[in-house]
Formats: sequence, C-alpha cells, structure tokens
Amino acid sequence: MSDALILGIESSCDETAAAVVRAGEQVISNVVASQFATHQPYGGVVPELASREHLRAVLPVVRQALAEAGTSYESLDAIAVTQGPGLAGALLVGISYAKSLAYALDKPLIAVNHLEGHIHAVLLEERRKGNHELRFPVLALVVSGGHTHLYLAEQKGNGWTYENIGRTRDDAAGEAFDKVAKLLGLGYPGGPVIDRLSKHGNPRAVLFNPAQIKHPDRRSGSRQFLGQRFDFSYSGIKTAVLRYVETNGLRASVLARQQSLAGIAKPSLEDYLANCDTQTLDLIASFQRSLVEDLVGKTLAAAEATEAAMLFVTGGVAANQELRVRFEQDSAEAGLPVFFPSRQLSTDNAAMIAAAAYPKFLSRDFAAMDFSADAGLILR
Ligand code: KG4
Ligand code: ZN
Repeated sequence: MSDALILGIESSCDETAAAVVRAGEQVISNVVASQFATHQPYGGVVPELASREHLRAVLPVVRQALAEAGTSYESLDAIAVTQGPGLAGALLVGISYAKSLAYALDKPLIAVNHLEGHIHAVLLEERRKGNHELRFPVLALVVSGGHTHLYLAEQKGNGWTYENIGRTRDDAAGEAFDKVAKLLGLGYPGGPVIDRLSKHGNPRAVLFNPAQIKHPDRRSGSRQFLGQRFDFSYSGIKTAVLRYVETNGLRASVLARQQSLAGIAKPSLEDYLANCDTQTLDLIASFQRSLVEDLVGKTLAAAEATEAAMLFVTGGVAANQELRVRFEQDSAEAGLPVFFPSRQLSTDNAAMIAAAAYPKFLSRDFAAMDFSADAGLILR
C-alpha cells in the first residue's frame, strides 16, 4: 500500500479544491476552483457566500480531479478532508461530501488540519525535486490570510508533532496585505497586487515600524530555547498606512483609483500602474518592506533560539517575491536552509491535504464518521 492513492478535499475558506496524490508525494491532479469573483465586490470573503459556492463547486471539482488523474472512485485508497481551522460552514461542505464518499465507497476517511497541510506543501515541493532529506527540529512559518503562526516540529513515528511558539496577536500578515490594498483602492485579494506593485516604488520612502511585542518570558542573554514566544502584530502597520493616506491628502486619489479599477474586469499590471502615482507606489513598497523585514527578522530570531535545523515558509503570503528573496538571503547568512512550496502550492489547495493525510494513512489514523468541522482546530 506504499503507493496509496489519496483524494484530498479542501474547503476551509474561499477555494474549493480536490487533488489526487500518490504515496504522499506525487501530485497526479490538483484542481482549485477560486471564489474570487464572488467575494471581490465585497472586498473580502463573505462566509455565507463561501458555503454556497463550495456546495456548487465540490462535486464538479472532485470529478475533475479524478478525471485529470485518470482514476476512478474505486481505485482510491482513502479520502482526506480539511477539518479546520477555517470557516465552519465552508468546512462542513467539504466534510459532508467526504463523509458520504467514504461511506458509499467503504474507504477510510482522514481528517487533516489545514495548517499541517500548508506545512506538507513544502515537502511536496522538495520531493518533486528529489530531495528527501529532513532534519529536525523544523521551524515552520505558516503565513496566510488567516494565520501568522510559528511551529516547531519534531518527528514522531510516521507523523510529526508541533509546538506553537509564535502567532499574530491581531491581524495575520495576509490580512494586513488585504486590508492595506483595500484602503488604497486596489481591490481584493491584496497580496498579489501589492507584491507586483512594490517593485515599482521606493521601499525606503516611508518608515513603518511593526509592533515589537514584549515577551516577559524571554530570557535575554540565553541562547537556549526555554518556552520563549515569538509573536507578531500587524494591525498597527495597517493603521499607520491609513493615517499616512489621511495626513497626506490621498483620499480623493484612492477613491478615483477604486472607481477606475472597478470598471476593468481583470486589471493588468499596466492598469494598476496607470492608476497609481509615485507617492502611492512608494507607500506600497514601504509597507511591504516593513512587513517582510518583520516576518523574516522574528522568524530567524526564533530559529536561532530553538536551534532549528530547517526552516519552512508556507501559506498564501509565502508566494510573495520579496519575502522569498529576503528569507533566502538572511537564512543563507545564518547558515539555515530555507524551503518554500511552489507558488501554486503556497495558496490553498487540496494536494497539501492529501499529502498531510499520508502519514495518517500509514498509521491507520482514520476519522470516525461522526467527526465534525472545527473552526478553531489547534495544531499539535
Ligand atoms: O493560504 P491562503 O490561500 O488562504 C488562507 O488560508 O488564508 O492565503 C491567502 C492570503 C491572502 O491574504 C492573500 O492576499 C495572500 O495570501 N497572498 C499574498 C500573495 N499571494 C497571496 N500575499 C503577499 N504576496 C503574495 N504574492
Ligand atoms: Zn490556507
């Protein structure tokens, strides 16, 4: 059974996804139906609409994943599905569908933590490149629209155990990207747009200082990791951008940009550039630089304190170009190997869910038919 075929289903947020993965490492198909168009007019994900769209998409997406894999329901060895964290109603759609499939086909059902999925996306990428080497502890930064979490991972049996050593105290990094894009009239989601526009601005034009969290439990002078925490906070930087817009009289130009871009179905980079003046581009580039520097700095401090052997950076924000370059440069200086998923596997997908399910499949760690969605599921 070592080349088991697992069907993964993911519906925790605004992407309905299904994938077939062989032996936890070979992605045979990977289908993602984005709800981008549904949520865009609202400038963020609307939970009720997300559930409705998942209901609409789940069956065709699973069928497409099987068709692209050239496989049948009967050939599957297990069905894996995201249990949480995420939007409860959205998660329930994937879970109900996975349960009925598992029941009807008499196949094992595996419940997967979405965050463990993001971590396994890194392994998928490395195994695709033929790299099977793993050294523990692994420090994993999961950085997305809903999470900015640092996990210290160790191997236990077929699977991994996780200790959370840092998290955001308020907004997640991706949320900050999305909120800043929205308040600058750039639409939703903000990360990819800010990523592309930042290359056209001066990243040193405006100084932002993301909050430095006081850690009473951090022992200065000691390099030994003794229950230290490495938390993040990104709501302040978003407010600082808003204040900059107000004090510099940029409101009118934000509104004009918003209206102009709303009239274009799928704005290109040129459309965005044509609607942004130098001051705005400098603001965007400065925001991104500050956030990236903070993420990289705090993560590397955590890696040093925990004597991590490898660093994984994953989740939607890991698609960010500047973040990757900065992590690669600074980790190289620190002598720490750093790994990312492919850009496609950085954002939500089901291949990562099927991959994370594989060690559970080997350990026969199957879910009972009465398990339910857990919107706040903790990774440990
Ligand atoms: O992992 P993901 O697809 O969904 C969650 O689990 O949240 O992450 C989505 C988030 C959004 O906030 C989006 O703006 C951000 O990832 N994102 C990026 C980039 N691509 C997506 N942020 C910065 N740069 C990018 N290139
Ligand atoms: Zn995610």
